[in-house]
Amino acid sequence: MSEYKGKTAFITGAANGVGLGMAIAFAKEGINVIMSDIRKADLDKSAEEVKKYNKNVYTIAVDVSDRKAMKEVANEAEKAFGKIHILCNNAGINLFGPLDEATFDDWDWMFNVCFWGQVNGIVHFLPKIKAHGEGGHVVNTSSMAAFVTSHGTGIHSSIKAAIRGMSETLWYNLAPQNIWVSIVCPGFVNSKIGKTEELRPDRFKNSGYNTGEGKYLDMEDPDKFPGMSPLEVGERILKGMKNRDLFIFTHAEMKEEMKENFDWILSYFPDEEINQKRKAFENKRRKANVEDRVKYDNRGKIIHRP
Ligand SMILES: NC(=O)c1ccc[n+]([C@@H]2O[C@H](COP(=O)([O-])OP(=O)(O)OC[C@H]3O[C@@H](n4cnc5c(N)ncnc54)[C@H](O)[C@@H]3O)[C@@H](O)[C@H]2O)c1
Repeated sequence: MSEYKGKTAFITGAANGVGLGMAIAFAKEGINVIMSDIRKADLDKSAEEVKKYNKNVYTIAVDVSDRKAMKEVANEAEKAFGKIHILCNNAGINLFGPLDEATFDDWDWMFNVCFWGQVNGIVHFLPKIKAHGEGGHVVNTSSMAAFVTSHGTGIHSSIKAAIRGMSETLWYNLAPQNIWVSIVCPGFVNSKIGKTEELRPDRFKNSGYNTGEGKYLDMEDPDKFPGMSPLEVGERILKGMKNRDLFIFTHAEMKEEMKENFDWILSYFPDEEINQKRKAFENKRRKANVEDRVKYDNRGKIIHRP
């Protein structure tokens, strides 16, 4: 029987795309699913789809960037099916374009939803997961854009790299408490994210980009756009969670580019004699990290074989 059966997951951005894919994969696994999203109509429609696999589905319409509302949501979520074990910070929007054209409104809207939305989830839900002491899982949706930047990925890459740093640190903090962290890093997915502009609030309307009709990619249709299906992403996330994977990479076809990028970055290190005093100091922190990886991470055991 699945270790997750009967447990409860709270997912943000669950009305579409990756969040909906997770909701379906989780429901099939017997997990109670609390789906939240800012798009109320999509949420209600998608919940009916998820209920085909598990009737224990509950919906909450909320804007993840609303800190106060997220506090109330955390309390409401706990009342739906009892203890929350899985927190999926996934809601997101996107803007592609040259970074030098971005306005404060572009930056603020993106960071409020995609970065602070995740922080709001962590600050309001994590104490509840810690309090019940039964362990749990925090799943933060980042992106390959955290590692592979390009001409138009500016704000998105800044946020996704921040999520990577935040989540990796959280892993060290939480693993000893039997709470696991996974960083989801998809490549392109067929989702509704190309329709981000539908959601732009008036207070952030001064964009530096052409946000007009026809400007954005139709990413939903797999015939027009060669992404991965959200359900496949959701299933890969569940598999990664079961494996306690810190990183959940979904697109194997991007591994080569990632290696190329890491090699490129490493090539910038000065090729010189090592300062042993500084190295000994850094090694103390490094040793603690390696010990944790060996203790808590399946990959750590393989990579750091004695
Ligand atoms: N689609 C891709 O190619 C891709 C690639 C890498 C990472 N991602 C990430 O995956 C996550 C999900 O995106 P997706 O591609 O499934 O897009 P999507 O648009 O299909 O789904 C995102 C959901 O988040 C909701 N949302 C937006 N703003 C919100 C807010 N303020 N409060 C609550 N909900 C809000 C939307 O209504 C939508 O239902 C995002 O974090 C995104 O950055 C997507």
